Amino acid sequence: MKKIKNICLRLNIYFCIDFIRWFIRIVRYIKNGCSGAPPDPLKRKIILAYLSKYDLKCFIETGTYIGDTLAYIVRGKRKSIKAISIELDKVLFKAAKKRFSSFGNILILHGNSGQILPKLVKELN
Ligand SMILES: C[S@@+](CC[C@H](N)C(=O)[O-])C[C@H]1O[C@@H](n2cnc3c(N)ncnc32)[C@H](O)[C@@H]1O
Repeated sequence: MKKIKNICLRLNIYFCIDFIRWFIRIVRYIKNGCSGAPPDPLKRKIILAYLSKYDLKCFIETGTYIGDTLAYIVRGKRKSIKAISIELDKVLFKAAKKRFSSFGNILILHGNSGQILPKLVKELN
């Protein structure tokens, strides 16, 4: 029981530290006039807001990394959206492919988005 209590306490502390970090990043971003790339949590909310506002059915991401933004978008838009993410790094690509293997509406592509994106956009049109 004591062990479980300790784990919960630790998780709460990690959550609080994460939250404070995000908060500081967002405050800094706003203080700097919202210039440059927004911090991840804000970036994800902005993407979701645009997808909803314009009722977009497709989301393309250049650079999957570990796929957290992709997961957030798909969770927010449920299965109504087709999500495509392009990753250059082979290890990250394989990990993302595995992570999203059960999602029928997510396509992970391996390669340079500078080369893949123009072809992809042509196909979508
Ligand atoms: C900042 S991370 C992306 C974060 C992710 N979009 C997110 O919001 O969680 C950048 C990623 O882009 C990948 N990358 C860099 N150049 C690329 C390129 N030309 N084409 C595709 N992926 C690229 C890197 O390997 C890395 O995983």
